Amino acid sequence: MEREIRVGLCGCGVIGEGLVKALHEHADIIRARTGAPIRLTAAADKDPARLDLVRSHDTSVALLDDAFEIPKRDDVDIVVELIGGVEVADRLVREALQAKKHVVTANKALLAERGASLFALAETNGCDLYFEAAVAGAIPVIRVIRESLASDRFLSVRGIINGTSNYILSSMANEGAAFEEALKAAQEAGFAEADPTLDITGGDAGHKLALIAGLAFGAHVLPSQIPTEGIDQVDPRDIQYARNFGYVIRPLAVAQRVDSGALDLRVHPALVPQSDPLAHVDGALNAVAIQGEMVGPSFLSGLGAGAAPTATSVAGDIVDIARNLLAGAPMRTWYLPVEGEQRIQPLADLSSRYYLRFSVRDESGVLASLSGKLGNAGISIEKMVQDVESGAEGTATIAILTHRAREGDLRASLAAIDETHLTTAPTHLIRIVQ
Ligand code: HSE
Repeated sequence: MEREIRVGLCGCGVIGEGLVKALHEHADIIRARTGAPIRLTAAADKDPARLDLVRSHDTSVALLDDAFEIPKRDDVDIVVELIGGVEVADRLVREALQAKKHVVTANKALLAERGASLFALAETNGCDLYFEAAVAGAIPVIRVIRESLASDRFLSVRGIINGTSNYILSSMANEGAAFEEALKAAQEAGFAEADPTLDITGGDAGHKLALIAGLAFGAHVLPSQIPTEGIDQVDPRDIQYARNFGYVIRPLAVAQRVDSGALDLRVHPALVPQSDPLAHVDGALNAVAIQGEMVGPSFLSGLGAGAAPTATSVAGDIVDIARNLLAGAPMRTWYLPVEGEQRIQPLADLSSRYYLRFSVRDESGVLASLSGKLGNAGISIEKMVQDVESGAEGTATIAILTHRAREGDLRASLAAIDETHLTTAPTHLIRIVQ
C-alpha cells in the first residue's frame, strides 16, 4: 500500500492557515512531486475561531486546543511548529523530537536563541529539523546556502530580510505614507510579527542573520551579539535627502568576513545607490545577495513575509522530509557544523561611507567650522547640501555624504561637534551600503 506522510500543525495563525490551504488545495501536485500523499491529520490552536478557519479549508483534520497533544499522536510523522515566541515553542519542539517526530518550524527567534541545543537533540533522536521559512519567507535561501552552494567559501551575504521594515520604508518613500500608517498596513497584510517591535527595531532581521551566519560562516552567534539598529530611526527628511543624492534607504542585514578575519555582522537601515539591485526590492519583497569565492555573485529575491509565500516554504520543508522518510534516510541534509566562537568586528572598526544630517545654527562660519572639525578627524566630505529650515528661524540642515571612514573616528568627531554650540540637535548618521 502507498505510504502516507502525516502532518500535525501547532499554531493556526496567518501562516498556519496558509499551510492548511496549501496542503489541501495543492494535494495532487504535492503527491505527484513527492511520490506519496501528504495529509494534515491534526491541527491545534487555543483560539476556536482559528480552528474554525482550518475546518473551513479541510474537514478531515482533527482539531485540538492543546498543541502539546500533537507530538503524542500516532497519526503524526512531522510536527509543524508555527506558534512563534521562544519558551513554549522550545518545549514543544523538544517534546516532538524526543517523541521521534520530525519538525518543521518558521521560528527564527527560537532557532537563533536555542538552535545549538535543538539541532543536537534532533541529531540524537535521528530526526530532521527544517526551517526554510524562518529566513526570508518564500526565498529558498537556506537551501541555496547549505545545498546548492555547499562546496563554496562564502565571502558575504547581505540583503533585505525583514518584509515589514522594507514595506514601511517603501511606503514612506513612494507614497509619502507616515510611519504609523505604513506599519498598520503591514500588520493588516499579515507581514508583521505578533510583536511588530521586533520588525521595526531590527530584532527579527537579527534573528535571521544569526541563522545565516551559522550556515554561511559556521559561526555560533547569538542575536544579542549582532549590532542592530531599526528603521524607527529613519526620518522622512533622510529619505528625501537620500533620494536627492541618488540613493534609497533600505533595511539592510550584512554578514561578511573582513580582512582581519573577523565577521562583520550588522542590521541597520542603509543608503543604497540606485545602481544596486537592492534599491529595486520594494514593499514586502526580500532579497539576499550572496558572494561566494567560486560562484561569484548570486541574487535571490521574492516575498519575504505573508501567509501564502511563507506557507509555501513550510510546505517545501514538509515535502523534503517526506522524501527523506520515503527513502528511509532522515537527516540527509544537515545543519552545517558550527566552527565555534568567532570574533565579531566591533562597529567602531567598520570602514564605511556615511550619510550625516546636522541640525545647525544658520550663522556665518558654521559650515566652515563643521567641515574643519570633520577634516581634522580625517573625515573627508564627498557631497554636501544645506537647506535653511522653514518654520525654525535661525536653523539650517546640512546633509553630507562622506568618503570611507573608520566608524569609531567618525563617531568621536560627531560627539565632539554635538558638544559645541554648532549643532542644535544630535547629528544623525546612516551607513551607506558597501
Ligand atoms: N515579520 C517578518 C517580516 C515575517 O516582516 O519579514 C517574515 O519573517
